[in-house]
Amino acid sequence: MTKTTDNVELGKEMSAKLAVELIEDGMIVGLGTGSTAKIAIDLLGQRVAQGLRIKAVATSKASFDQGLKLGIDVLDINDVAEVDVTIDGADRVDRSTRTLIKGLGGALLREKIVASISHSLIIIVDERKITDKLGVDCPIPVEVTQFGYVTTKAKLRDLGGEPVLRRTANEAPFVTDGGNYILDCQFGLIKDPAGMEASINQVIGVIESGLFVGMDPRVIVGTATTAFEL
Ligand code: A5P
Repeated sequence: MTKTTDNVELGKEMSAKLAVELIEDGMIVGLGTGSTAKIAIDLLGQRVAQGLRIKAVATSKASFDQGLKLGIDVLDINDVAEVDVTIDGADRVDRSTRTLIKGLGGALLREKIVASISHSLIIIVDERKITDKLGVDCPIPVEVTQFGYVTTKAKLRDLGGEPVLRRTANEAPFVTDGGNYILDCQFGLIKDPAGMEASINQVIGVIESGLFVGMDPRVIVGTATTAFEL
């Protein structure tokens, strides 16, 4: 591993560790998705093994399976009306507004549903994810129905985006846990995240976008040596 990769991994661990320390007995915890959230779930599993009593809901099949394997009581989302705190990663965080881009890991819809019923959303990221120019170096993932996705793609292009159908390593279309496709849409600098989110979501065929606006997350940033709240 290069030093940069090492530092990124350490940053993920530092942020995950601080977030998991905030979890208390009796909470219902949302389990995020992605490599940083995966570390947090492992640490949560360790605390559960030491006696922490929590219940959880998961934002993806992978996180559901990981949680169960670690002995965490992972509930069906339909049996949960409210979540105390969700710990999740992000692909970009806007420094001043804490607007998020999520979904490069493919779980944006379930992540947004769980975040929307969470009293507190804790976002754990390494330093690379913090930006002053949201959208410039990261597309907005948009989850769309398979049916008619070519038309949906054209509509997103009309909005000024450059949508690309996400594919797996073997070039097949990537399919989300919910059975949908993802169009990664490069829009360049996003000056009005709320307006952009609304415009994307009104396109027929769009299920949800990876722009998380106005969710007031706590953002924990990890570096190689420490973690701090943004
Ligand atoms: C999953 O769909 C995403 O929203 C992740 O939360 C995001 O991609 C962050 O993942 P990493 O922690 O692996 O960077």
